[in-house]
Amino acid sequence: MADDRLIVALDVPNAHAALEMTQQIGEAVNFYKIGLGMLTTGGLALANELIHEHGKRIFLDMKLFDIGATVEAAVRGLAQFDLDFLTVHGDPHVVDAAKQGAAGSNLKIFGVTILTSLDRNDLDNCLIQQGDIKDLVITRAAKAFEAGADGVIASPQEAALIRALPQAKDRLIVTPGVRPVGAALGDQKRVATPHDAIKDGADHIVVGRPVWTAKDPSQAASQIIASLP
Ligand code: C5P
Repeated sequence: MADDRLIVALDVPNAHAALEMTQQIGEAVNFYKIGLGMLTTGGLALANELIHEHGKRIFLDMKLFDIGATVEAAVRGLAQFDLDFLTVHGDPHVVDAAKQGAAGSNLKIFGVTILTSLDRNDLDNCLIQQGDIKDLVITRAAKAFEAGADGVIASPQEAALIRALPQAKDRLIVTPGVRPVGAALGDQKRVATPHDAIKDGADHIVVGRPVWTAKDPSQAASQIIASLP
């Protein structure tokens, strides 16, 4: 049975392959993430088809960042597509503008705190203030919630700390970087199992390669769902 806590990242080469993958997975998965790579090669049309012809839910991972007026206009357009989740950078002015753009729709806005590919040296190069990355992530999550974010994207390692924030009450946490026991890590370094990510306070987990590279993606997804608390 599909469980909307599992979101499968459709990071396959193009929209055609993505549609085929969702058909292969079938009823086992109800919620898919479409990222920037796919967006520039037919991703919005794919999202539309999955939503309206196959009854799926879509998380559009765009990580928008711009002046408020531009973010608001972009989100107002996207809000007409019946998408479920959209990411923007977690800066308060961006989150606030995105929420205004999404007003009147069911689109939920998620703030990205700090990209997990960045280390302290990268943050220094971007002139981001000193401090431990984890502390900066927690502070940025709190600020994103205060600006109205419906949720944040976080590493499973940070999920429990974010869940404990008073600002996180009734808000959502979505965690990528999740690996079933025994699955290849790929380029993910700080991983947790699907079970532990949910136990630590995530509402949804995003899993890509362990599902779409599996010999039987439908079975791989079902096994992940069966492992959730
Ligand atoms: O294949 P895998 O399970 O690693 O895919 C995870 C998905 O989540 C990918 O689409 C990746 O871009 C995204 N993601 C991530 N780590 C983050 C943010 C997003 O892996 N910190």
